[in-house]
Amino acid sequence: MRIDVITLFPDMVEQVVNYGVVGRAADRKLMYLQCWNPRDYTVDKHRTVDDRPYGGGPGMLMKVQPLEETIQAVREKNPLAQLIYLSPQGKPVNQAMLAKQVGTQSVIFLCGRYEGVDERLIQKEVDQEWSIGDYVISGGELAAMVCIDAMARLIPGALGHEQSAQQDSFSEGLLDYPHYTRPEEYKGMEVPEVLMNGNHQHIEDWRERQSLGRTWQRRPDLLELKVLDDRQQALLNDFKDEFK
Ligand SMILES: C[S@@+](CC[C@H](N)C(=O)[O-])C[C@H]1O[C@@H](n2cnc3c(N)ncnc32)[C@H](O)[C@@H]1O
Repeated sequence: MRIDVITLFPDMVEQVVNYGVVGRAADRKLMYLQCWNPRDYTVDKHRTVDDRPYGGGPGMLMKVQPLEETIQAVREKNPLAQLIYLSPQGKPVNQAMLAKQVGTQSVIFLCGRYEGVDERLIQKEVDQEWSIGDYVISGGELAAMVCIDAMARLIPGALGHEQSAQQDSFSEGLLDYPHYTRPEEYKGMEVPEVLMNGNHQHIEDWRERQSLGRTWQRRPDLLELKVLDDRQQALLNDFKDEFK
């Protein structure tokens, strides 16, 4: 997958490929990241990328010209990719959106700074706007890094053989089940017996029941979107009975 990121802080974003799963995806050539700095596409001697907003008010805005020329340069390398502006006003990012983007094998992220970017640039160039949550951060870089990390997990071959993104929360529309590792007993708290009896069917049932139950307890909105088969409905009913 090819990922281009337009940012005033390329050093910050490039860090994302130095660690963990994203690092492994990059090492295995499953993901290629290139950052582009709009400051390199300015035309004045001060390399100005921002200016004051018309109508007054606090803060500065990113100017159209350096961004547009950066985008043109990126599109020469990555002509078919969707250009996604990371913005608190965008669509909240979810696993399905990320998986769909991974399926296209490419993306261009635009990171805003200051009060954001001139609206005309958004109208002219941006295909989608994505938000990482209902809060405002100082720039799109961290948002881009969140999306890059989450996408890397979804690229086939990026996770170790023993791991699978299919078991992560949200991949099947449910939250993940609880996990335990050694020791068997820690300060009086024990690992559930079923996980240690070696019966794979019992373990699978327990995990699915926990996954359904947790989603019911913590994210009932997700369950409303999911169609459960008879077995899953029975497991969920069983879980609910315990809380009556
Ligand atoms: C300080 S913010 C600008 C906020 C803008 N004035 C507003 O209130 O909608 C600067 C940049 O950070 C990024 N950003 C801030 N919050 C974000 C969020 N929740 N999701 C994605 N990007 C965000 C965007 O790229 C934005 O242009």
